[in-house]
Amino acid sequence: MTAAAVPFVDGWDFVQTLGEGAYGEVKLAINSGNDEAVAVKIIDLKKAQDAAAMDLIRKEVGIHKMLDHKHIVKCYGTRKETTHQYIFLAYASGGELFDKIEPDIGMPPSHAQSYFRQLISGVEYLHSLGVTHRDIKPENLLLDGNNILKIVDFGLATIFRHKGRERLINRCCGTPPYVAPEVLVQEPYHAEPADVWSCAIVLVAMLAGELPWDEPSDGCQEYCDWLDRKVQLSPWNKIDTIPLALLRRVLVESPEKRATIATVKKDRWFVKPLPFKRRSSSSFDNSPLAKRLLTESGSIIIAVQDRDALSVTQPEPQLNSSCNEISTVSVDNLLTHACLSQPVEMDNMLLSSQWMNTPATTQNMWQKLVKRMTRFWSSKTTEETINEITKVCKKFGHSVKQMSPGILTVSTTDRRKNSLVFKVCIIENNSSDNQRCLVDLRLSKGDGLEFKRHFMKFKKSLNAIVTKQPSIYGTEVTKEN
Ligand code: ADE
Repeated sequence: MTAAAVPFVDGWDFVQTLGEGAYGEVKLAINSGNDEAVAVKIIDLKKAQDAAAMDLIRKEVGIHKMLDHKHIVKCYGTRKETTHQYIFLAYASGGELFDKIEPDIGMPPSHAQSYFRQLISGVEYLHSLGVTHRDIKPENLLLDGNNILKIVDFGLATIFRHKGRERLINRCCGTPPYVAPEVLVQEPYHAEPADVWSCAIVLVAMLAGELPWDEPSDGCQEYCDWLDRKVQLSPWNKIDTIPLALLRRVLVESPEKRATIATVKKDRWFVKPLPFKRRSSSSFDNSPLAKRLLTESGSIIIAVQDRDALSVTQPEPQLNSSCNEISTVSVDNLLTHACLSQPVEMDNMLLSSQWMNTPATTQNMWQKLVKRMTRFWSSKTTEETINEITKVCKKFGHSVKQMSPGILTVSTTDRRKNSLVFKVCIIENNSSDNQRCLVDLRLSKGDGLEFKRHFMKFKKSLNAIVTKQPSIYGTEVTKEN
């Protein structure tokens, strides 16, 4: 295997980039001694050009550290260096909620209902603390190894209620298809109804596999059609009347008339028992990777913890008799507290002031990669795979640039003529003749559902080189036609 793990601090290696954004990136760090996994958000402070950007980073750190809820990704601690801010997070090994949404189809309503209830529970908790997320969308909703939804990315979060006093929000922020109409108007608005609106758009994406509009403004025909109750049109005609009734109560233009979380929780569909269907083999539903991690010695770890994807090889922490905390460490105010679910070897990352330069330990790279739908295995060499990919991109009229060895940037436009940019990363695997390399696609810019549509078309065109994934990687997924 040529893709080497990069050592981070003593005993911790960065093995994979989990996500990228304007702020910097999120990397997966693995402890070489005990296989513990932690997601590290690395914010490049040089990119925060003004006081407002620095303020958002300070808020993200301060807010995330105080959160403790089943549906909020756990923040283990933070650390600030001269040029970088690090935020250490529980690793959500189940990937993005997006990967459960089949473009133009969605997912079984019982699954959508379960995720929606979890989302509402997380948002209700945030609001109870006076916190608004301001960027709720499927990309910011991850799943842990037990399919539990976790809200991530508090980069736009802010406090809207303090000591019982509410303040209105002035800033227009979020992602246009998910924002409420009042957010686009240059006037102060209430935080809670705006977050609830975004939750309803996530529900539309889950039930119909498409977003209803580019943005909820008068200039957008699809939004005007919704206001005119043209529910015979897509995506509404794909949604059953009972969940549609819920959407009609939430996607109300006036925030005062919009259903609140309290009313959503009493809604007929929200409370309706739906038979939870297990889906059979689908490319969107691989078996949980986290449950099948291999140890360095070759034995199988079964991860059973609810709250995160850490292995059961983790020693049982000693419980403090008075509460669930095991220790309270304070070094330069970088770390607030360590809790039960915190990996035992976290301290090195939180406390070390020098990055170790030890050679990378051989990692079981493939087993630790985050579960993601937008990747496939190729039976060809890296060079041959790149040639095939380049040919397919040219055929589709996409522009392709090779940024660095094994990494291509593909630029195109989607059905709504919005820009779509994604990276194709080819990772060589010398240990197998059948799976010579892993082709990993990651969205850099644009709509996630459109990206997924492109991925499916792209993979189909490359059918000649696509091969099945190694069996240790979960249920074998056969080639799609
Ligand atoms: N991407 C961003 N945050 C993440 C996390 N905590 N786990 C997995 N992937 C992530």
